[in-house]
Amino acid sequence: MCGIVAYVGPREAYPILVKGLHRLEYRGYDSAGVAILDDDIQVYKKKGKVSDLEDHVSEKKHRGHVGIGHTRWATHGAPNDINAHPHVSGNGRLALVHNGIIENYGLLKTALEKVGHTFETETDTEVLVHLIEEIQSRESLPLEEAVRVALTRVVGAYAIAVVDRDEPEKIVAARKASPLVIGVGENEFFLGSDATPIIEYTRKVVYLNDEEIALISKDGILSIKTMGNEEQHPAIQELDMKLESLEKGGFEYFMLKEIHEQSKTISDCMRGRMNAEEGWIHLGGLEEFSNKLLDAQRFIIAGCGTSWHAGLIGEYLFEDLARIPVEVEYASELRYRNPIISEKDVVIALSQSGETADTLAALELAKSKGAMIYGIVNSVGSSIARLTDAGSYIHAGPEIGVASTKAFTGQVTLLSMMALSLARKRGTISQTYFLQLLHELSYIPAKVERVLKNENKIKFIASEIKDSANALYLGRGYNFPVALEGALKLKEISYIHAEGYPAAEMKHGPIALIDEHMPVIVIATNRSAYDKIVSNIQEVKARNGYVIAIVTEGDETISQMADSVIEIPDTEEPLTPLLSVIPLQLLSYHIALMRGCNVDQPRNLAKSVTVE
Ligand code: F6R
Repeated sequence: MCGIVAYVGPREAYPILVKGLHRLEYRGYDSAGVAILDDDIQVYKKKGKVSDLEDHVSEKKHRGHVGIGHTRWATHGAPNDINAHPHVSGNGRLALVHNGIIENYGLLKTALEKVGHTFETETDTEVLVHLIEEIQSRESLPLEEAVRVALTRVVGAYAIAVVDRDEPEKIVAARKASPLVIGVGENEFFLGSDATPIIEYTRKVVYLNDEEIALISKDGILSIKTMGNEEQHPAIQELDMKLESLEKGGFEYFMLKEIHEQSKTISDCMRGRMNAEEGWIHLGGLEEFSNKLLDAQRFIIAGCGTSWHAGLIGEYLFEDLARIPVEVEYASELRYRNPIISEKDVVIALSQSGETADTLAALELAKSKGAMIYGIVNSVGSSIARLTDAGSYIHAGPEIGVASTKAFTGQVTLLSMMALSLARKRGTISQTYFLQLLHELSYIPAKVERVLKNENKIKFIASEIKDSANALYLGRGYNFPVALEGALKLKEISYIHAEGYPAAEMKHGPIALIDEHMPVIVIATNRSAYDKIVSNIQEVKARNGYVIAIVTEGDETISQMADSVIEIPDTEEPLTPLLSVIPLQLLSYHIALMRGCNVDQPRNLAKSVTVE
């Protein structure tokens, strides 16, 4: 949700900024801009994609060695050239980029207007740059100090980078509830909302903590202070990220690449953590705190969107296998509804980005109530990963397509391992069943490959339903959250309205919608409640609905009833979601493509929702 990049050092800043903005474009893509410090501050900004900014800048000179850049997902003010970042102070001395929301910007704006400031944009960010200017004009403070004082008056969330024409060798950056990473090179520094703009220049990084302010300068100074002005010792870490993971690798879209990567990413999630032949599972984060987890009176799983859907599967897994009571919560609701949480609870947060504002806030609340907090996260070093008491990475690699795919299967793989490990420790499943599930889990990557081989058939089905206005997704048991996820995938990238329902709930309302124009995608694999779901399909057919069924290989009953079937290999019921979700991801992808949508950058969305 807005991407920030910055550079200070001996190289020309502009090419680094633009390349970085392309990498960060998944975070917001309604406008982009850069400010380069040369003799003066040169600001270029444009509505649209980073490529529109490049077209705009191409004829202009931009030779400076210090610069900041931004790609925007609008919160305050329409996406247009004027509201694009960077924002410049009234005296033209400062330029600033911001990710987050300044909640008290109205009050600050009124106060600044009273002392003569005028504003050109509708953004909250412009208020902050004027506030710093005002502080500089009243007290002669170095930039880093003026920024620090200004931020003590700000309520809200921010990651910012600021440059000053009168102190042209430095960049000041700060964060609160929005991420920032500093790349440390040889006498040069990089800044990014994540490490993707930094990785090809240096592997050494410092993750800025909340309420820290950093100064990076051309003469190699890196200084970090708290908002209370206490000097901090930067902890330099080594990045573990491959450059290829940031490229499309021959695929037309990142989403398609990421769907096809899932056999590998599921294997990566399991690697070194389990061995089916030897019959063990070992999750580092879990082992250390296993007593706490085993003694928990209940688990509360919190997340948003696709991560929340993975959490629902976690509920089925923990209750079914480990017999631990689970509640699954939208993080955005949990944080505001005065929930009953105590030190006897374990709160598990699911997040691909590790930066989702609502999930972070829910965790902070749970922590304040004494619960142990456990993170299941993809982004290494992210805020959630650092806040939690313990946790496990899913090791899916950077997910760049805005629609989450490989992170979902990574989360479900991790939850499956966790549930199995706890079930074994609690003695709630037999050794035989444990080994059976463990073996089956180890076969999942190969079975995912088999599902992917159905892509041509799925493409054909996509062509049949691509012009629909609505779609209904039905599933039962472990496949109910998959139905929700299938519907979310379709609506977010193809803009077709879709709903996911537990199949039996259809009779309580949605059945009224069914006619020959309504595709109904039913996940009908062959385990419990199979007969019930066969009846649900008959109910849809009786009303002329167009049924696409996801069935187990060799299924003959449903094949005769449904208009189209997509087969997936048989597996143990708790692991079914890892296979049944794949055709739904491909179906959404191909429908969106056929409708001419930008699959990786769907309208209005952004990856990493760092505002609430
Ligand atoms: C949907 C999607 C979103 C995210 C949600 C949570 O495809 O990507 O619904 O799942 O914004 O994001 P994370 O997992 O980063 O906390």
